[in-house]
Amino acid sequence: MKLFHSLLLLGAFLAWEAQCQTTNSSVLNCTSPPYVSNANHSETGTSPGSIATYTCYPGFRTTGSVQKTCRDGQWVSSGPSLYCQEIYCSYPPTISGGSYRGSASYRTPLGTIISYYCYSGYVFNGTHTDLTCQDDGNWTPLNAPVTE
Ligand SMILES: *[C@@H]1O[C@H](CO)[C@@H](O)[C@H](O)[C@H]1NC(C)=O
Ligand SMILES: *[C@@H]1O[C@H](CO)[C@@H](O)[C@H](O)[C@H]1NC(C)=O
Ligand SMILES: *[C@@H]1O[C@H](CO)[C@@H](O)[C@H](O)[C@H]1NC(C)=O
Ligand SMILES: *[C@@H]1O[C@H](CO)[C@@H](O)[C@H](O)[C@H]1NC(C)=O
Repeated sequence: MKLFHSLLLLGAFLAWEAQCQTTNSSVLNCTSPPYVSNANHSETGTSPGSIATYTCYPGFRTTGSVQKTCRDGQWVSSGPSLYCQEIYCSYPPTISGGSYRGSASYRTPLGTIISYYCYSGYVFNGTHTDLTCQDDGNWTPLNAPVTE
């Protein structure tokens, strides 16, 4: 009798199932758009069809889709997920008969300045001695050209 009672309770417990279901998912609002590292966002709202637009911070390269749309209560992007990748300069060019002063590596921080010089017995033959690591990850001449 006691066992039967327990089984009855267990049966009642297993039989009980429930969930809260929306009658129409196309009217669901979204919460705030998801966080993406090294980016901020602004959105037209959180209602269905609203659009969130992301911007990678300066110094980060944008890969993937910058927009997400609120659909069925979820922010969905139309393309690959957004990724904001930090930009670096790689090693600067080498010159024969000389080298450069300044710190550079395969991941040189943006804004780094290096200055070329010649070993003794060599003279500089070029337009610029100083290069700067630009926001796009390229080394470009800094200041005015060298004059003889
Ligand atoms: C769901 O809501 C949308 C927008 O209000 C409406 O166009 C559509 O007919 C609704 N669908 C159902 C099944 O009620
Ligand atoms: C969605 O948000 C609007 C505006 O805040 C509100 O009027 C509406 O009831 C919300 N809809 C749902 C399904 O929560
Ligand atoms: C996002 O960041 C950029 C650069 O830091 C800034 O100019 C812009 O105002 C920010 N936008 C929002 C919505 O916070
Ligand atoms: C400097 O370099 C240029 C281009 O490489 C070359 O044509 C020129 O002869 C060089 N000048 C001297 C003085 O070596």
